[in-house]
Amino acid sequence: MLLSSMPTTAIKFTGVRKSYGGRSVVDGLSFSVEPGECFGLLGRNGAGKSTTVRMVLGMALPEAGKITVLEEPVPARARSARARIGVVPQFDNLEPGFTVRENLLVFGRYFGMSTREIEAVMPSLLEFAHLEGQAYSRVTDLSGGMKRRLTLARALINDPQLLVMDEPTTGLDPHARHLIWERLRSLLARGKTILLTTHLMEEAERFCDRLCILEDGRSIAEGRPHALIQQWIGSDVIEIYGGDPHELRSLVGPYAQRVEVSGETLFCYAADPALLRVQLRARTGLRLLQRPANLEDVFLRITGREMKD
Ligand SMILES: Nc1ncnc2c1ncn2[C@@H]1O[C@H](COP(=O)(O)OP(=O)(O)OP(=O)(O)O)[C@@H](O)[C@H]1O
Ligand SMILES: [Mg+2]
Repeated sequence: MLLSSMPTTAIKFTGVRKSYGGRSVVDGLSFSVEPGECFGLLGRNGAGKSTTVRMVLGMALPEAGKITVLEEPVPARARSARARIGVVPQFDNLEPGFTVRENLLVFGRYFGMSTREIEAVMPSLLEFAHLEGQAYSRVTDLSGGMKRRLTLARALINDPQLLVMDEPTTGLDPHARHLIWERLRSLLARGKTILLTTHLMEEAERFCDRLCILEDGRSIAEGRPHALIQQWIGSDVIEIYGGDPHELRSLVGPYAQRVEVSGETLFCYAADPALLRVQLRARTGLRLLQRPANLEDVFLRITGREMKD
């Protein structure tokens, strides 16, 4: 695509609010997604990710604030924006009684494509989704991974500029997940913009140029994954198993920036892991795992380790 034809900002939320039954679900949310980047929305169950996604698509109406998507004001001109958006909803909404081909045909027609136009892109979509052998299978006969891939193929039928993907890999086995990841990478390489929600911190760390973590509909952290890891955690984490974590906590506490007990495990966030390990040298029966800090550490630090609900 020519740079001059690219919108300046793909998605812009400014002070957006939404409530259901008097309960605030999205609470003054502001963020922007630049063309060509993958932007992640993270957060616990119920944090407001899907509601945010639905407002991007004009499917849920904000009560306050301003939303612009591909330079169209939403919801006023959501329909026009939607023509340039591909959607992978959190829960598949394929036509169960139809075949893979029929699902693509029906969806293409929804975008005003002729049968000939849809037939022309069908082989590349089936290949992209690794569904060449399933063209005549009914959706009810597909595995969960195949359904997800079909939903992805369907989202691409109108060659969208922006892809909105709500948990595209939840519930998939590692093979299916890696295939989708490979496809995500190729879409980004083709200059697509992606809004991604995920509970897989590895996925967010791999793909998101920037992300925001939502809590009760508010952004509580925003930035590049590695910047957030540096800011909130540091470089290394040592996990210690096999001892009384509370007793060990006082032993290693002075040598760590922060220590945290979770169940039987002690998590140590240390600037100098070697110094910390020295303190444990004389202790037997302990298992130490030293690893680079990751986005999951950030997520758990910011949102807390305990269950909510
Ligand atoms: N149509 C609706 N009517 C009433 N409440 C709703 C509706 N949609 C969402 N909610 C509520 O809004 C809150 C946010 O829901 P949302 O689906 O946006 O969360 P989420 O971050 O996508 O969660 P998950 O990770 O479980 O998918 C939840 O408490 C949910 O119950
Ligand atoms: Mg959701």
